[in-house]
Amino acid sequence: MKEQLRAHLLYLAEQGVQGLEIPGLPDNVSDNRAETDFNRECLQALWHRLENCTRCKLHRGRNNIVFGEGSPTPDIVFVGEGPGRDEDLQGRPFVGRAGALLNRILAAMGLQREEIYICNVVKCRPPNNRNPEPDEISTCSPFLAQQIDILQPRVICALGNVAAAFLTGRNAPMTVLRGRFYDYRGICVRPTYHPAAILRNPGYRRPVWEDVQELMRYIGKPVP
Ligand code: URA
Repeated sequence: MKEQLRAHLLYLAEQGVQGLEIPGLPDNVSDNRAETDFNRECLQALWHRLENCTRCKLHRGRNNIVFGEGSPTPDIVFVGEGPGRDEDLQGRPFVGRAGALLNRILAAMGLQREEIYICNVVKCRPPNNRNPEPDEISTCSPFLAQQIDILQPRVICALGNVAAAFLTGRNAPMTVLRGRFYDYRGICVRPTYHPAAILRNPGYRRPVWEDVQELMRYIGKPVP
């Protein structure tokens, strides 16, 4: 990613661009703007590579590809397993019942959806909300990897077993996986229960709250 950025900046320099300042703004603001715009463009380019995707069998039943959405420069990326019915219909992640609960968790963390980024391991809905199969994960996950490479968040929150297994590289129950940080492509990963699991089992509320508090402490923004 750094290489891509360097190549892009070299290209701009060759075109005669002398820095990326925006008149009237302090340097760090113009840097932030440049990074935001650059990341947004990279995400857009990646999204175009997925358009009309037929790489795996999930394309047969989908209405919309659910690429992901949120800040192009987030501190936190939330990764779920794959779109459900509502997400498939709207083309947006976590907009159904589980999404409503995720919104409430975010609000309790003092966050708005626009500040973070939300996406899934697979971008098309598995039929009848089954788990994505290994061939579907291996076909689609390079797109998640590239999203993470572009976004470079401080931390990733893996929601549920599928995202946790993929991002930690370990196949173990959430009771075993949660409670510590892992590494995915140089980024810290904190696994926790999926919001849909909390809807089925309210007993998961407390561990999820502990996990997200830990995550906020890690990025230096503890929940008061
Ligand atoms: N569940 C997921 O894992 N992802 C979504 O986008 C919605 C529900």
